[in-house]
Amino acid sequence: MNVPSIAKQFGVKVSKQKKIQKGIYRIVTTDGNTFSLKRMPKQVARFRWIDQSLLRVRRKGSHLAWRNPQTPEGHKPHAISPKGELFVLTPWISGRKPSPHSLKDMQACGIALARFHKAGRANLMGTFDNSEIGTWYSTFSSWERSIKNKISKAKKNRYSLPISQFIKKNGPEIIGYSISAKTLLQNSGYYTFRRNPRHMKVLCHGDGGPSNFILNDKGTYLIDFETLHVNLRAYDLYRVIYNSCKDYEWDFSIAAAILDGYRQVSQLNMDDYKLIRVWLRFPFSTYLVLSSFKRFPLTQSRLQWALKSERRIGPFLKKLDKYAVRNSSKNAGH
Ligand SMILES: Nc1ncnc2c1ncn2[C@@H]1O[C@H](COP(=O)(O)OP(=O)(O)O)[C@@H](O)[C@H]1O
Ligand SMILES: [Mg+2]
Repeated sequence: MNVPSIAKQFGVKVSKQKKIQKGIYRIVTTDGNTFSLKRMPKQVARFRWIDQSLLRVRRKGSHLAWRNPQTPEGHKPHAISPKGELFVLTPWISGRKPSPHSLKDMQACGIALARFHKAGRANLMGTFDNSEIGTWYSTFSSWERSIKNKISKAKKNRYSLPISQFIKKNGPEIIGYSISAKTLLQNSGYYTFRRNPRHMKVLCHGDGGPSNFILNDKGTYLIDFETLHVNLRAYDLYRVIYNSCKDYEWDFSIAAAILDGYRQVSQLNMDDYKLIRVWLRFPFSTYLVLSSFKRFPLTQSRLQWALKSERRIGPFLKKLDKYAVRNSSKNAGH
């Protein structure tokens, strides 16, 4: 990939470049500014929507790593590589990743997420709004189908012997969690909010978590907007909680700190918590490992990690319920 020639389309000259990972480069320009150059695997129409939504949100004061159209290099929304791939040039935010070990960091993430939601709420007019509010049930069904598929493959011993045995033995438990998630969904009020989402409908980051926030002395920045879409705010809260707790033994104090932060900006009501619970109960970690996604290879140790996670989520949700009783606004909040 020819980084300097793509950067040139934004009118900047590269003096240093460093590959962060596939399709993401940190570049320093000849006049000393630092940027990230990233491939966006999106269609142009979707990209335009993301771009316009983010510019509006930032005008309301959210801290985001996104182009600044007032600067020469931020004038152009995107570049196109010779292969036809879309690239964005974004100011590099210096700072550090929040640590789930620090409740103060987690609280800062909750505050930043709530501010982002607040800023994005007024901008949801229009029919082409990339909403995923209506897709929850079908998403769970399709993931469940995929898990069942892997279980049938295991029954035919299509994997290595230990992996096939593991999946056969624990398949019913995993499917049980998926059924629980669907039952929780039916009883969550989702079908009412789906029709009339009111204040719950927000612009969602879509993949919040420790690796997509950056803290510095100016504030808490959000980065990485490929998954930007419209959804009920519970989805984004779930995502941040999942990404922050999954590698930290599902320690509920991490989630409590995120929620505490969020509530400093916007109230949450019982319905929000019920909707968060639905997503947490789906056996998503197992789904990821069984699907053998990039960062979740299908190995026995990964399967064990995922099952251990699923088993911790039951007690975690009990704590969430207690938290919800203590910290819900009675009136359907703001
Ligand atoms: N604009 C930026 N400022 C600071 N760090 C960045 C920026 N863009 C990317 N990074 C760093 O690179 C990592 C990967 O970038 P990200 O856009 O999150 O890619 P991915 O979609 O693979 O998660 C981030 O977790 C962050 O550490
Ligand atoms: Mg990221």
